[in-house]
Order: sequence, then C-alpha cells, then structure tokens
Amino acid sequence: VRDVVCIDDFVRIAKKALPIALFDYIDGDSLAEVTRRGNVDDWAAVCLEQRVMRDVSTVDTSVEIFGERHSFPLGLSPVGLAGMFAKRGEVQVAMAARQHDIPRHLLTFSSSSVNEVAAKTSAPPWFQLYMLRDKKIVEALLDRARAAGVNVPVLTVDLPVVSVRYRDYRSGLGRNISLQAKVKGVADLIPRYGWLLDVVVRGHPLGFGNIEDILRGVERTNVGARIDRNLDDSVTWRDVEWIKQRWKGKVVVKGIMNSLYADQAIKAGADAIIVSNHGGTQLDGVLSTAKTIPEIASRVGGSAPILVDGGIRSGLDIVRAPSLGTSSCMVGRPWAFALACGGYSGVMKAIEILRFELSIAMSLCGFLKTSGIVGFALPRGT
Ligand SMILES: Cc1cc2nc3c(=O)[nH]c(=O)nc-3n(C[C@H](O)[C@H](O)[C@H](O)COP(=O)(O)O)c2cc1C
Repeated sequence: VRDVVCIDDFVRIAKKALPIALFDYIDGDSLAEVTRRGNVDDWAAVCLEQRVMRDVSTVDTSVEIFGERHSFPLGLSPVGLAGMFAKRGEVQVAMAARQHDIPRHLLTFSSSSVNEVAAKTSAPPWFQLYMLRDKKIVEALLDRARAAGVNVPVLTVDLPVVSVRYRDYRSGLGRNISLQAKVKGVADLIPRYGWLLDVVVRGHPLGFGNIEDILRGVERTNVGARIDRNLDDSVTWRDVEWIKQRWKGKVVVKGIMNSLYADQAIKAGADAIIVSNHGGTQLDGVLSTAKTIPEIASRVGGSAPILVDGGIRSGLDIVRAPSLGTSSCMVGRPWAFALACGGYSGVMKAIEILRFELSIAMSLCGFLKTSGIVGFALPRGT
C-alpha cells in the first residue's frame, strides 16, 4: 500500500488481490447499480466556497459525538464478513480505527465475534444490529455486546429483506450455483494465492462470529438463504422502542432516507440517525444520501445528531457532509478495500489519506474547526 495516494487506488489493487466473487460482493450493488453511482457523483457536485486570508495555521479537525471527542468527523460503517477480506479482518479494522480514535462498528454479520474484537481493542465500540425473527437471539446479541463493552447499538432499518444483487447471484456467493460456475470460481483463486494464504490458511476459524447458532448444521453454500429467512421482515418503529427500553442507553438508527422517517426514528427513541441507503446495495433507484440530507437536516437538525454514509471518497466529501447539515460521516467500501489491500496497514493508510485531505480542504475553505463548517456549501446550480 506504500504507493497508494487516494481511496480509488485501493479499489484497483483490491480487484487483483481478492477473488472476483468477494471483490464483486464489496463493489457491487443491487440491480442496475444506479444509486451507488449517484451517491459518489452527488457529493462531487456539492460546491465549496473558497475563503482566503483567514489564518489557517491552526486547523482543528476533531469532532464531538455523544460527548466523546474523535480525531475527525469520520466513522467506519459496518460492512459484513470482513474476515473474508483479510485475516481476522474485523480485529484489524477495529485496531486501526482505535489507533486513529474514530468510531467503528462491531456487526451482527461478522466473521469474528463481538467478544473476539472487543478483547483485542479496548475502546467502547458501536454494535450494528439487524432485527432477527427470533427476539431471544437479538436479546442475547445485545447482552453479549454490552458485556463486551459496547455503548451504542445501531439498528439498521433498511434491510427487512435482502435485495437483488446480480453480481452475487452470478458468483454464487452463499448460494448454490452450477458446477461450471464453481470450477470457474476455483480457477480464479489460483492467481490470488496471497489471499488464500492470508485468509484461508491463516485466518481460521472462518465462521459467522455472532450468528453461528442460527447457522448450525447449514451447508456453507446455503448460508445466504438461511440468513434471508432469519431477517425479520415485520420490523417497525415499535422495535426501535423495544430496543431503546431494553438497552436503557443511547441508540442509533441507520438507514433513514426521508425527513418523515427521521422524525419517527427520533420519536421512537433514536438518539442519532444515520442517513444511509446501504451504499446502494438495497433499494436501487433511491436518491443519493448527499441529495437527501438538506431536507432531513431542515426538519430534525438540532434535535439529534445526523450522520451520513454512502459515496464518501475523499477529505473534500468529509467537509461537504457537515456543510449540508450532518455532524459526521462514515465510509464503508473504502475501508473494506483498504483492508483487502494491506490489512491493518491498509486501513491505517486509508484513514490517514482521508484525514490529511480533510485538513487541506478545511484550510482551503477557511474552516478552523469542524463545528464551523455548517452552511457554506451549495449543491451546484442553486
Ligand atoms: C459489502 C457490503 C456489506 C455491508 N454490510 C452491512 C451490514 O452488515 N450492516 C449494515 O448496517 N450495513 C452494511 N453495509 C452498508 C454499509 O454500512 C454502508 O451503509 C455503505 O457501505 C456506505 O456506502 P459506501 O460503501 O459508499 O461508503 C454493507 C455495505 C457493503 C458494500
């Protein structure tokens, strides 16, 4: 990763390092992949104001969320099965995030369990939760997360069912495919011996950390179908109220794309919301997150912190997010690709790049503090 200079470089390198099925799992989107492109393009279309002669010799990139100060307004979004991208992937990512003092998530669908990650990284993380049909499993997950030091559960609400993902169907990720497709998949592994050695040989056990109970006895090729069946498609705001009551602490809701739902999430007990369309992997055709924020910020801004993810790819984008009304932003694919390229060092490098670009962007925009960024950018054409 020494020669990497920007986030897009990680994508190119990861394409060569990862089996195609895994690269497509991270890179791909649902159906025609329109929303993912919109997420990236619409950040780039937010114009920034060039403010000069403002003495930018001391720029403070830090930000406060839930009373805790972080080094800059970036968090790492939950991306499932990071243990397949690099050896014990979740542990390596958590270590890099802790080193940079930025928020990161433990996950429902992770390769390493909550306990394994928490044992190796002391800072209290957030725990991303999916609502599952069996509430006893949800309760057990929450209890395990609390015991491991988690202080904020993040309920993802935009995945009552798993969307259609053509690339995954073709590669057979977690599903049964033809013998011919299987042979092609195995042949594809031969030049990826670095990944084989790192993940398959040294990365054991390759499990599903927190949900092994649900998957007991299931053929590994049928895992996708079993997970789909266990997601609770009857989930409503009452479940947010239930989690809030049970957790008795701060709760975040992720997957809000509309001011009405932002309002409802807060009324149901959310202490913060994450504006997110799951990186475009769920409802293809939904608006980009950049275009959604102004409407949400005008309705609920001030009553709860607003975070955002989807398409953030540079330090400029990290300035653009609070300029439209958010407290902080998060990235998913950028850290996933960085992890695949260089493990802990790759993620460290990705975070360093984003932080450096942010400090340059703040200087050129004349912002001395992140709290002063609000209200200076305008979508092009307004
Ligand atoms: C491969 C992949 C797996 C993901 N897994 C999860 C998950 O398990 N839970 C979740 O809440 N979001 C998940 N997401 C969504 C991310 O948390 C995040 O919203 C999205 O990646 C942000 O967009 P970006 O990748 O453009 O930064 C996943 C996204 C991708 C691409």
